[in-house]
Amino acid sequence: MPDPPFRFDEDTERRERFHLDRIRAFGQENPLPDDLVVEIGSNRCRFLAELAQRWPDRFLLGVEWRMKYAEMGRELLNESGVENARVLQADAALAFPVLLDDGQITDLFILFPDPWWKKRHRKRRIIRPDFLDLAAKKIRPGGHLWIRTDVGPLAEDMEEVLAAHPAFEPLPLEEFPLVPFPRTTRERTILKRGLPVHPLYYRRVAQWESPNP
Ligand SMILES: C[S@@+](CC[C@H](N)C(=O)[O-])C[C@H]1O[C@@H](n2cnc3c(N)ncnc32)[C@H](O)[C@@H]1O
Repeated sequence: MPDPPFRFDEDTERRERFHLDRIRAFGQENPLPDDLVVEIGSNRCRFLAELAQRWPDRFLLGVEWRMKYAEMGRELLNESGVENARVLQADAALAFPVLLDDGQITDLFILFPDPWWKKRHRKRRIIRPDFLDLAAKKIRPGGHLWIRTDVGPLAEDMEEVLAAHPAFEPLPLEEFPLVPFPRTTRERTILKRGLPVHPLYYRRVAQWESPNP
């Protein structure tokens, strides 16, 4: 018998199953190659569309949990005519385990993540130990984690959490990209106001093994 119509205020288990089914369907429609570039919080995909044009030989995936932005992002990718980028509307923490093989990502971008200022909301920040465990499984050894933020205290907090995680080490300066990456929507606003941007660039170390294989 088919499931009765879905309501978003229903139990979490059913809601999660609904999302996981959608994510699996996306994976079937869009087989994802190795050497993947992923952006979490791709918003309207300005960064993703531009990077896809610069890196025509790579495949890029944007993960954006807000439906409205994911749809705007999809439109921008279509208008830009790029064929090597897709956007999935989902929570990255839910999508990664079902969508990606271990080591499938080479470059993971998390650009201007939500700061979650309030103390009681800190556990919602994306850079936290359990999420880093998951990200470290999906990034191949030697792969990169590229983070940028304009929020000083958030940069400090992320730096602290990353320093405590054995799978990541700060990227040596000589490995920084010579040509700056495209600017995100938020970044353009910040730079226009003359405010600083903090880059936090890391390498997934080779010798780390997940404690939860
Ligand atoms: C502050 S905005 C920055 C957007 C864009 N990266 C920029 O720099 O303009 C953060 C974005 O991340 C998305 N987001 C936050 N947590 C997410 C998650 N767990 N999975 C997917 N998207 C997420 C939000 O919906 C929002 O679009």
